[in-house]
This record gives sequence, C-alpha cells and structure tokens, in this order.
Amino acid sequence: MWQSPVAITGAENMSHSTHGPLFSPSLISADVTSALPEKYTMRPLQRSDYKAGVLDVLRVLTTVGEISEQAWIERYDWMARRGDEYYILVVCDGEEKVVGTGCVVVERKFIHNLGLVGHIEDIVVNKDQQGKKLGLRIIEALDYIAEKVGCYKTILDCSETNEGFYVKCGYKRVGLEMAQYY
Ligand code: ACO
Repeated sequence: MWQSPVAITGAENMSHSTHGPLFSPSLISADVTSALPEKYTMRPLQRSDYKAGVLDVLRVLTTVGEISEQAWIERYDWMARRGDEYYILVVCDGEEKVVGTGCVVVERKFIHNLGLVGHIEDIVVNKDQQGKKLGLRIIEALDYIAEKVGCYKTILDCSETNEGFYVKCGYKRVGLEMAQYY
C-alpha cells in the first residue's frame, strides 16, 4: 500500500523524504487515464516536475513569478507534509512534458458532521493542447479523488468565460464569489 513519503521517513528529516508522488497514484482514476489521447498520461505531481515544465503550464493561467528550484522544493515539501490535503495532478504528453495540471484542496470542517469539502483550483491546459478534452479529464480525475477521500461536495470559482467548460464537466452555478485582495 502507498504511504506518504513523510510517513515513511518522518517529517523531521525532510531532505530525503518528499521525492515520491504528492499523493497515492491509486487515487488516479483508471477510467479517466484510459480516456486520455494515446501516449498521454496522468499522475500525481512530483518534485521533479519543476524540470518537466509545470510552472510554464501555470503561466497560461496567470502570473507565476520567477520561482527558483529551491523555492519550488520548499513549497512542494510543505504541501507533501500536509499528506492528505493537497492533491495536484499533471497530464503529460508522450515525451513526459507536463501539458496540463489541476488541483483539489481538501478542507476539513466542523459543520456537516465534520464534513470535507474539495476546492478545485488552478486548472490549466497548455494553449497548443486545448480542445483535446484534457481539461475535462483533469476535472473528472479531481472529482474522483474528492469523492474517494470523502468530500461531500466540490466547489470552484471561475470567470464567466469558463462557465461553459465547467457546465460540460457537470458543475452548476451556485451563489456568488466575493474577494478582498491584500
Ligand atoms: N467555454 C465553453 N465551453 C468550453 C470552454 C469554454 N471556455 N472551454 C472548453 N469548453 C468545452 C469544449 O468545447 C468541450 O465541449 P464538448 O465536450 O462539447 O466538445 C468541453 O468543454 C471540454 O473541453 P476540453 O477540451 O476538455 O477543454 P480544454 O482541455 O481546452 O481545457 C480549460 C479547458 C482548462 C479551461 C483551458 O481552456 C485552459 O487551460 N484555459 C486557460 C486557463 C483557465 O482559464 N483555466 C480555468 C481557471 S478556473 C479554475 O482554475 C478553478
């Protein structure tokens, strides 16, 4: 059975403990991966994805900034230590280059009987790879993870221009987003 790299080596000694996948690969739906285009793969994020182009994919979505490899490792390790909270996955083309990514963050509540809510974040597919249903597969895979780990719902914020995409993924408009920037 898969164990968090942190659980195996102890959180104190982080220098060698977070080289594995961010979460168990068994949480990646086989039905979803089998629906990917030929040679494409889907897997949990891993530390080495800094070199596989994941930050460039995120730049299609928004500003990322210039992040050094050391800074990437520190943030990755911080997420890995949370164990069952951050589920970031990537889609790779036949050359192992990251071409899409998405995330579900699992929030633990007191309400709804200690309910768990999945927050879908940072969904993006490289411009030259859009229209191949990779975005849809990313959402299907994140929904699968959220349900498997016990979330009773999954929510997200998006722009009006992306509403149609999320409707195709089975989501519906509920409520209103508000924000305060610091
Ligand atoms: N509006 C309406 N329908 C859309 C849109 C859209 N903006 N984008 C895709 N669709 C439809 C497709 O036509 C397809 O429909 P079909 O099944 O009838 O053929 C279906 O949705 C699935 O489309 P995919 O091919 O899976 O979409 P793609 O792989 O291109 O990914 C995505 C969609 C992720 C929105 C991509 O265009 C992208 O990366 N955009 C830039 C980044 C971005 O805006 N990300 C979303 C941020 S919101 C958040 O992260 C919570």
